[in-house]
Amino acid sequence: MKRIGVLTGGGDCPGLNAALRAIVKTAIVKYDFEVIGFKDGFRGLLKNEYVRLELKDVSGILDKGGTILGTTNNDDPFNFRLSKGNKKEYVDMSHKIIDNLSILKVDALICVGGDGTMTIADKFCKMGVNIIGVPKTIDNDLDKTENTFGFMTAVNTATEALDKLHTTADSHHRIMVLEVMGRDSGWIAIEAGIAGGADVIIIPEIPYDINRICQKVLDRKNSGKNFSIVIVAEGSVSVNGEKVSRTVKEGGEIKTKYGGISSRIAQQIEEITGIETRVTVLGYLQRGGRPVTYDRVISTRFGVAAVDLLKQGRFGEMMVLKCNSISSVKIEDAIKNIKKVDPEGEFVNIARSIGVSMGD
Ligand code: F6P
Repeated sequence: MKRIGVLTGGGDCPGLNAALRAIVKTAIVKYDFEVIGFKDGFRGLLKNEYVRLELKDVSGILDKGGTILGTTNNDDPFNFRLSKGNKKEYVDMSHKIIDNLSILKVDALICVGGDGTMTIADKFCKMGVNIIGVPKTIDNDLDKTENTFGFMTAVNTATEALDKLHTTADSHHRIMVLEVMGRDSGWIAIEAGIAGGADVIIIPEIPYDINRICQKVLDRKNSGKNFSIVIVAEGSVSVNGEKVSRTVKEGGEIKTKYGGISSRIAQQIEEITGIETRVTVLGYLQRGGRPVTYDRVISTRFGVAAVDLLKQGRFGEMMVLKCNSISSVKIEDAIKNIKKVDPEGEFVNIARSIGVSMGD
């Protein structure tokens, strides 16, 4: 019998439990493997915090948000924070993880995560650890795969928010600005914007001009529409290069955090147009709750296929969705680039064709 390990790393998203369920069931039922789950991503591997996962442990979790294993996005084992008295230092602890895997006799590891987790996984692959990657993220920014699970649920949450904002915007004759996540990619904004009938969609891939946004709002007003809906991706940037971000030190790394661009845009719209403007920041609601059907299906497909790939010994590969078929690519190829919305591509063209302003 093989013993395999599994962990979930990075920011959580809907569908992680569905993927864990698929992995555990396939491993036990199809291959008679033993499965252990490491807690809180690579931190559990480092600290030897794990649980044996049986079929009963994954029963009833298909529709549950979050991850039964826990996760973290600030413990990089290659740059791990250790406290010595009042001092903190960052140390490469990767060899401890390799030792732990060998002491536990774990033959192979399935890492469920986004670009950060896959970057760490790739380094371990190069040190000889047998790893298969399963892609997740609400941002849908992992390259080489058409979709990651978590994304469609986030789009659904943002679309429902737009539906609700429409009615209150209409009643009060206001402009509503909805800020969504996605880091440097505008996937959530463009898909939810199209699905939720936004009048203006602002994405990081197309720098926005505040005057063009105001022009759209005023054109609508002049044509008798007394409200407008704007959706903005958190990582968007103006034509003058303005962004709303801050840097924080997380796990020894300097990371960019987004949040707050909607307030700046709303204030400018109100000043320029004179129309009352309100802001909603959707935030972590996009990461929580029950996965939609699409995400349950794709996470189950990825989970099953990952164990099949592991059985075949195809290590160092990450599951991907291409033309709605599951296949795999080398993890190192998947982490080279962030997948962005093509400013000349189909989604942007669709939005423009139906009269949506892209803020440019
Ligand atoms: O990558 C997923 C994501 O939710 C981004 O959309 C967002 O910018 C970021 O994570 C927030 O990260 P944190 O959990 O560290 O606040």
